[in-house]
Amino acid sequence: MALGGAFLAIAGLSYGVYRLYEENKTLEGDMTSLQGTLEKTQKNLEEVTRNGASLLDALSAEQTKAGFLQEQATTFAQAVQRLSGTVTNLEKLTKTDPELLIKYSKVYFLNEHYIPASITLIPNAFVFQGKEEYFNTKALLHLNELLLASQVAGTELKIISGYRSFERQQDLKSQYKVVYGTGANKFSAEQGYSEHQLGTAVDFTTPLLGARYEKIDTSTQYFWLQENAYKYGFVLSYPKGNTYYMYEPWHWRFVGLELATKLHNEKKNFYDLDQREINDYLVKIFD
Ligand code: DAL
Ligand code: ZN
Repeated sequence: MALGGAFLAIAGLSYGVYRLYEENKTLEGDMTSLQGTLEKTQKNLEEVTRNGASLLDALSAEQTKAGFLQEQATTFAQAVQRLSGTVTNLEKLTKTDPELLIKYSKVYFLNEHYIPASITLIPNAFVFQGKEEYFNTKALLHLNELLLASQVAGTELKIISGYRSFERQQDLKSQYKVVYGTGANKFSAEQGYSEHQLGTAVDFTTPLLGARYEKIDTSTQYFWLQENAYKYGFVLSYPKGNTYYMYEPWHWRFVGLELATKLHNEKKNFYDLDQREINDYLVKIFD
């Protein structure tokens, strides 16, 4: 019996050991296969990472290419814009009378046959005693605006002289010479040298002063002109101390808003600038 019991115990034990061995083998198998799966997963992950990196590289290369193309397109559009601006300016320039910004008055002779391309009657209400006075058609808009603004400001101005033909200036100068002799050269240009022949110069007066316009600088109107005329493109041609004529506070010339503003801001006179510098403003004279 005891022997039988011992045998059974040994058999049981052997079976237990056998089971343990079997289970261990199964576990080892599982471990190996897990290891395999892990290695495979790692390899896959590495490949995915590699692919991802090269995708990112490709994306960044595409982005660089797109940025470059965008830059090229912008440069091209800017060049087209510049070119069309140049063409517009050239077209404007060919239609603008180059005489309009030349420094006349004892410096250059304006051809005796010169007449402005177009002159228009200055509205009657703006002219002293309602006389017929003309002004350059394109610049008249600016003159009218100036006259209207001075009225609104309560400092009404009147025009006493506008465009003068070569012959008109000749007559005028002859009359002055009779009265003042050579003294007339101090305030009256020879025919062919007057800014009035351009059609862009005017002599201002006030309703009160009328024909005594040479006293205009004692009026509030003159103060207004000094502060505001440039906003309408007008500048004083012969300020105190100029080398051409006596001080003429009544005589103003249209040179365009941009040039007049530059002269006002820099406290310079038209004659202080070099003719080449002045010429750059011709294209913008009627802007
Ligand atoms: N009074 C100016 C100088 C002219 O006659 O044009
Ligand atoms: Zn004048």
